Amino acid sequence: MNILGISAFYHDSAACLIIDGKTVSAAQEERFTRKKHDFSFPKNAINYCLQNSGLKSKEIDYIAFYDKPFIKFERILETYITFAPKGIRSFIKAIPLWIKHKIWMKEFIRRELDYEGIILFTEHHESHAASAFFNSPFQESAILTIDGVGEWATTSYGIGKDNNIQILAEIHFPHSLGLLYSAFTYYTGFKVNSGEYKVMGLAPYGEPRYKDLILSELMDLKEDGSFKLNMKYFDYCAGLKMINKRFEKLFGGPPRKPESRLTQKDVDIARSVQDVTEEVMLRMARYIHEKTAKKNLCLAGGVALNCVSNGRILRDGPYKEVWIQPAAGDAGGALGAALFVWYQYLENKRTAQGKRDFQQGSYLGPGFKNDYIKNYLDKNQIPYVYVTDENIPEKIAGLIAEQKVIGWFQGRMEFGPRALGNRSIIGDARSAKMQEIINSKIKFRESFRPFAPAILKERVSDYFEIDRESPYMMFAAPVRKERRKAIKENEKNLFGINKLKVIRSEIPAVTHVDYSARIQTVDEEYNSLFYKLIKKFDEKYGCPVIINTSFNIRGEPIVCTPEESYRCFMRTNMDYLIAGNYLLKKTEQKTLVEDLEKKTGFESN
Ligand SMILES: [Fe+2]
Repeated sequence: MNILGISAFYHDSAACLIIDGKTVSAAQEERFTRKKHDFSFPKNAINYCLQNSGLKSKEIDYIAFYDKPFIKFERILETYITFAPKGIRSFIKAIPLWIKHKIWMKEFIRRELDYEGIILFTEHHESHAASAFFNSPFQESAILTIDGVGEWATTSYGIGKDNNIQILAEIHFPHSLGLLYSAFTYYTGFKVNSGEYKVMGLAPYGEPRYKDLILSELMDLKEDGSFKLNMKYFDYCAGLKMINKRFEKLFGGPPRKPESRLTQKDVDIARSVQDVTEEVMLRMARYIHEKTAKKNLCLAGGVALNCVSNGRILRDGPYKEVWIQPAAGDAGGALGAALFVWYQYLENKRTAQGKRDFQQGSYLGPGFKNDYIKNYLDKNQIPYVYVTDENIPEKIAGLIAEQKVIGWFQGRMEFGPRALGNRSIIGDARSAKMQEIINSKIKFRESFRPFAPAILKERVSDYFEIDRESPYMMFAAPVRKERRKAIKENEKNLFGINKLKVIRSEIPAVTHVDYSARIQTVDEEYNSLFYKLIKKFDEKYGCPVIINTSFNIRGEPIVCTPEESYRCFMRTNMDYLIAGNYLLKKTEQKTLVEDLEKKTGFESN
């Protein structure tokens, strides 16, 4: 039984393939088109899913689409009518795409894929909830989904049991925690639907000076976590902008200009909205626990990518276990829709394995065999040395210790926004300089965020205040006190990026200014080679933690193919690239032919 899941036309289009209930392939369209957050119909991702299993579209039994276009269109129409004639510009802008593709989705899919089989539509939050519960390790769980907006719902909660999910209550548009966060993302000068992660990263620099103002003026937050936004400050219903002049006046001025210098006010704003988000999520989590009496919680929706809030729910919330769909954003909706059809629509049995989830480390994207990589390297006369599987850990661990920056291209690409050790750039987390080196020479950005640590699963509690695995980098937790370093008197009043340069722990490259870290625990079963590498690094150099940052540069999606990894390697100051068993040294490479011709690198934005 083959089920193809699709999400498209909002943000982060994706496709996935479920065969007899098993998630076999999943990938975001952006990785193929090289357009970040690509929301077009995921033709490439679908092709990948089909080809990976040798299937033709007519062999698909069901196609599951992740939302209900008619209901979404109704929301847009109704919102327009409520605010008319305000909003005519955004309405006119949205209409052509709706008429051309979105309303007639069924026909559109049939045409695009030459498909005559059954097409089913799940609701947006149902898809998020399904993606969170069905691939979780739990047989029973509470479910919470939070995002910008689906059809009408912006937040939902429910329960999952066996092969069934049930949504119990929803918060509806325009009241949206995701859109509130996006409004502040815009106000602090970052890109909406993409820069939210930066606001979260910025928050530890600030004080929550505006928290009370947000809670008193912008929203009416109830004890149970439900809320209403005060729409007189927002413009997203009627206009093309998130906020209006009243909002600007309330917070003392216009939004920060993108790329301009960050001020104390910007970081205080970031901290305030982050604190509010944590507060709301915690209240919701507690209330849902009261209502459902479940000991486990599953989370999904774009807001569930906020690993700091997730860490708070884990630490301060009432649940025994929390599992978060790694593709928590709309890409994961494709997966949820397909799983929903398999379990709920077709009533197939589901037996959760307790500890192990069904996400398989989220290594669900394209993989490339050694033959393919060798062929590419030879054809382009790219010098390399072959390293055996057994020798890779020792060789690369040695290079990390020599303070080299290494592109690590192995196995199948990750599904979800985080690189989890298959499309990663790695380096020494103990290094005081590594953070700056990778940011300025590799990623070409000045970042106020530290990198994420990848740590051996069994050692996580030795370094961080967390007592469980975090395989998908979905939880932030503090570095243990014993691993911290005292801050010098003259370093206490530093601001911005300078604050990040202060050595705060034994692993400064992955320690944020509030001592938090976005942890990835690495497990031998999920990712054997990556595990062996870190294990070897620990054995030889006494540290079970390395830097793991995504294999891309600013403005570019994570690399997918060996060709892309080579180009990224060549256009940055990475020292080595290990692709499969082939080790490439930068000093032995010739300049890329296309770069000689064009003399340009990647675009920056
Ligand atoms: Fe969503």
